[in-house]
Amino acid sequence: MNTVDSPSEGNPSPLIIGHRGASAWAPENTLAAFRWAVAAGADGIEMDVRLARDGVPVVIHDADLRRTGGRADLVAELSSAELGRLDVGSWFSGRYPHRSRSEFASETVPTLAQVIELARQIPGPLFVELKFENEDAKPLVAAVCDVIAKTGLAGKVIIKSFRLDAVAEVRRLQPNTATAALFEPTLTTFFRPDRIVRAALEAAAGHISLHHSLARPKLVRLARDAGLAITVWTVDSPRWRPWASRDRIFALITNDPAAFRERYR
Ligand code: G3P
Ligand code: CA
Repeated sequence: MNTVDSPSEGNPSPLIIGHRGASAWAPENTLAAFRWAVAAGADGIEMDVRLARDGVPVVIHDADLRRTGGRADLVAELSSAELGRLDVGSWFSGRYPHRSRSEFASETVPTLAQVIELARQIPGPLFVELKFENEDAKPLVAAVCDVIAKTGLAGKVIIKSFRLDAVAEVRRLQPNTATAALFEPTLTTFFRPDRIVRAALEAAAGHISLHHSLARPKLVRLARDAGLAITVWTVDSPRWRPWASRDRIFALITNDPAAFRERYR
């Protein structure tokens, strides 16, 4: 049995997962943010993955470098080596001066392999979100599965995506790797919780990952009854924790893992 797959019993104490690392305190999706999450006592981390021009999976949220790199290039137009030299840390100090640190200026776009290597120190799990525009999902799925297989840490990884065809493809390529179907609020997901659960099951996901506005009693009950482990994102108030314990939520994804640890130490 995979260590993170099918925990349908839920979790009496939900795992605390650093969203893009501890992204309230360090530039998102950088090694600094992931180290910060470890230091903050996060149980696991969440990251976003895209393909660089040379086919290497790299860890970055947006399709282009405007917001975090201050330039217009698309991630897909640059090689992983070029991205590995690009400053994606300074923007954070400009945006959050009270949390700025000079060393953030040396943070660059890490590869998935680098982040997983660093995450060996984390008890787990590692949520790896596959990001797409409208492209075919298969190249990114194949590259990510390949990296994860080589690290030997597949048992700690949960691959997730809003693209349920990608989730199903992970299952096809690597049936032993845990997967999560991601849902954000739309008219359909908000009013038809049954459809969310059905879609997750059709993609053969063992986990369901819900925007917090969707985490309402009916959907939580339906998902639990269907044997899906439930993760809720992105919550920064520790007040979510007692609710999550009561409702046997598997994990809470937060930008500020330390806030949860401090309150419930
Ligand atoms: O965990 C899900 C969440 O990360 C999805 O939203 O935009 O932060 O990747 P986003
Ligand atoms: Ca994400």
